[in-house]
Amino acid sequence: MNNYQNHTKSASSKVKKEIAERVNVLLAKMSLEEKVAQLAQISGADFVPGPDAEEVLRKTGAGSLLWLNDTKRFNELQKIAIDESPSGIPVLFALDVIHGYRTIFPVPLAMASSWDPEVAVKSQAIAAKEARAAGIHWTFGPMIDIARDARWGRIVEGAGEDPYLGSAMAAAQVRGFQGEDISDPERVVACAKHFAGYGAAEGGRDYDEVFLSETELRNTYLPPFKAAVEAGVGTFMSAYMDLNHVPASASRWLLREVLREEWGFEGFVVSDAMAVGNLVVQGHARDNRDAAQRALVAGMNMDMAANAYTENLADLVNDGTLSMDLIDEMVRPILTIKAQMGLFENPYVDEGLLDEVVSRPEHKQTSRWAAQRSMVLLRNEDNLLPLSDKLKHVAVIGPVADSMAATEGSWMVFGHKPAAVTVLQGIKDKLSGAKVTFAPGPAIRRDFPSFFEEMFPESKIPEQTPAEIKAAFTEAVATAKDAELIIMVLGENADMAGEAASRGSLDLPGKQEELLKAVCALGKPVVLVLLNGRPLSINWASENVPAILEAWEPGTEGGHAVADILFGDVNPGGKLPVCFPRNGNHAPMYYGHTLSHQPEGHPQYSSRYWDSPTTPLYPFGYGLSYASFEFSNLTLSAAQIAAGKSLTVTAEVKNTSKVAGDEVVQLYIHQKWGTDSRPIRELKGFERVTLQPGESKTVRFELGEKELTYWSTNAGKWIQDTAAFDVWVGSDSQATLHAEFEVVA
Ligand code: BGC
Repeated sequence: MNNYQNHTKSASSKVKKEIAERVNVLLAKMSLEEKVAQLAQISGADFVPGPDAEEVLRKTGAGSLLWLNDTKRFNELQKIAIDESPSGIPVLFALDVIHGYRTIFPVPLAMASSWDPEVAVKSQAIAAKEARAAGIHWTFGPMIDIARDARWGRIVEGAGEDPYLGSAMAAAQVRGFQGEDISDPERVVACAKHFAGYGAAEGGRDYDEVFLSETELRNTYLPPFKAAVEAGVGTFMSAYMDLNHVPASASRWLLREVLREEWGFEGFVVSDAMAVGNLVVQGHARDNRDAAQRALVAGMNMDMAANAYTENLADLVNDGTLSMDLIDEMVRPILTIKAQMGLFENPYVDEGLLDEVVSRPEHKQTSRWAAQRSMVLLRNEDNLLPLSDKLKHVAVIGPVADSMAATEGSWMVFGHKPAAVTVLQGIKDKLSGAKVTFAPGPAIRRDFPSFFEEMFPESKIPEQTPAEIKAAFTEAVATAKDAELIIMVLGENADMAGEAASRGSLDLPGKQEELLKAVCALGKPVVLVLLNGRPLSINWASENVPAILEAWEPGTEGGHAVADILFGDVNPGGKLPVCFPRNGNHAPMYYGHTLSHQPEGHPQYSSRYWDSPTTPLYPFGYGLSYASFEFSNLTLSAAQIAAGKSLTVTAEVKNTSKVAGDEVVQLYIHQKWGTDSRPIRELKGFERVTLQPGESKTVRFELGEKELTYWSTNAGKWIQDTAAFDVWVGSDSQATLHAEFEVVA
């Protein structure tokens, strides 16, 4: 199996029927106020104005509570909801557990770089286990927005630019979080977010409006969401921004027509934080009452923290504007999820569980393994890597080299204290007999603080004076000068990617490139390790630094994983899930664009920009290994197939080196003509294989209706054309091993 598939095990129809009956019995007993309470998600944190959570739970109960991470408090609040609220319905406790609860895994963009869905399955299963032991029932993940603009900060939370890889990683994360069945007591309910199009924010500016044609949405941005539905995801979260002039959180087309009517989604939709209230701010609703009405009618089940539902829905029903049937329709899936997950039977968490669960050795082991598989080797001139463990004196230089926060990356749960093995520590652990010196160089920080800095002041990085910057720079160069080899660890702080963390440039922030140049000028061997949450335009490094490892934000065991790779205990095999533009001004950039009348790459046609090449610095799917591989024998089972039928593509990959290693075999197609213009290349299959020296393997892919169908602008529907197709199999999106076939009537 190489084309990805979803494995869904939905509840049996008997269980479904029993739960539906139970929910109907409950609903019949509930007052309007109790029902409205189930449609509200209340804040457990005091940074949001609003009524006191405990009082709300006592008075009406609530569908859910978020922004609290306190096991004991969960039980206290749950007891109030059950014993004191009129309905006695337990609360769902929700929090963003994006890439780990206590044990932190590589950020989702890094997980996608593994091109191994099992990395996501296993990592998110542990994240779920730890979160559930803490008392959390529901995570706001996976974030599965396709992102083709590296300036957009939230690119770090997703799986990159490609709908096929994105769908595979979306389904894998859902399986990891939820397991086989939502009733699994060691799992959490997942939430596919942000529906939909958020990653295409204009100019890469977070929250800005999005303009996407239906064709672009259906072919590129929606597939991961559909894959999440097919994988059985329990909930969805709507996006904040305007999509084609309608806030996604009030889009009937998205929430009802596509999600429920077409895809058959049976779970519930929560708004993004305050998004129902924001309908007023965004100039869509007249006031909170109007916002509540618009969101509910559009198909939004739960209002996250805006209190717009709580304050207005009962009135809207009482004055006849909204029907009780609509309220019941919106409450039903919320109660259904609660029943399916066994919350009525087991509403409390065992307070003694968490410490034991988070200290299980396999959690750290899995995190290290996931980080190893996620890293991408971008350059390795003259086989500088792997390094010898006989080195006597190594200097580790750079502002993120010893930063636990940068190693873990963005999106930690509330109250989390960074505790990662940094790259410096990882190298010290590996080279226990050698001298390892360290200097951070000048610190890096955002020019404009994020609003998160106000909420979590401990994350603030103090500003250095010009004299301090100069001193730090000089010290770093001096430290490097004495060493035999220098490992530069550069990139971004945790707050430089993520929500409200977009940037206009993709350059290394601060003085990092200057420092890199000064250190390289010493004439010693230099290895560059990147810790960052988005592609960076490392043009100078790509030509002047012999070895570059993209480690992303690798999590708790990140430093160990980096050292494992640098010293050859592990052979890197990750591949880029996004292309690296040469310049932030080139974004959005992605491999799957259509041809123009002057195809890029043709020697005569350089008319795109006159001041720089517009090809990516590193293409989608790219990544090196200490081994080398050769592709051959690309064979198609048929030269022609009838529309609706499939063919098999096989190709051989051989490890031609003397070391074992992993290669990701990638299959791309291009439809040569048809009802619409089709992308120059589209990923339609991949498989990460491990090969011993000299070993070869034949990899097999199926191409059929599913892979060859697309949403057509001209036809206004899903179609499969009769046309000729190119096929390529190889190690990245520029693969050259080629064959052709034709689909006939
Ligand atoms: C983010 C969501 C997140 C929510 C709850 C919002 O600001 O956009 O991704 O799940 O907050 O914390």
